[in-house]
Amino acid sequence: TNQNIIFYLLAYLVGSIPFGLILAKNFAGVDIKTQGSKSIGATNVLRVVKQTNPKLAKKLGAATVVLDALKGTIVLLIGLSLNLSYETLWAMAVLSVLGHCYSIYLGLEGGKGVATGLGVYIVLIPIPTLIGAIVWIVCAKVLKISSLSSLLGLIAVVISSVFINDGLNIGSNVPMYLIAFIILYKHIPNIVRLIKGEEKKVI
Ligand code: G3P
Repeated sequence: TNQNIIFYLLAYLVGSIPFGLILAKNFAGVDIKTQGSKSIGATNVLRVVKQTNPKLAKKLGAATVVLDALKGTIVLLIGLSLNLSYETLWAMAVLSVLGHCYSIYLGLEGGKGVATGLGVYIVLIPIPTLIGAIVWIVCAKVLKISSLSSLLGLIAVVISSVFINDGLNIGSNVPMYLIAFIILYKHIPNIVRLIKGEEKKVI
């Protein structure tokens, strides 16, 4: 319906806020869009700021994950509190991740959608998301490669959500796959580097 357009816009515009870029610029004076992987996510904040200030890098990286996740979570919680349909909420989730990956404020450039994906998935499919988050964290600790850990966590979410039907079920997995596809698509350069053995460790 027409009133949903406001919520779709809200999800996209809030999702577009590049917290990593803003934090790195304001607190470390660096432009992460021109350094490291050139992504605006927490990993690149950590990677780039670490070169000059490791302690600050950890704080800014952590703040970036939290804020990038929250921008997805919050719009969905607003939608839930207003009793929007689950279909509308799933559409808002897709738009939040699209906003992060193709930000209106950055000429449609942006991040890779991992934190924002986590922020929306946790509301919509909490148990598969928790499983994915555990896989993500364990892999990050063991492998120390952020992109590979993100992708393995994402695969864990997708596979477990096929078996566990919890959360805001709409009888279709299409939006769940769409979010996963956006994240996967944004990781193509990482996948190419992983195959060539050129992906840099972060930690
Ligand atoms: O969360 C993003 C991560 O999976 C990859 O980021 O900067 O290493 O390309 P980056």
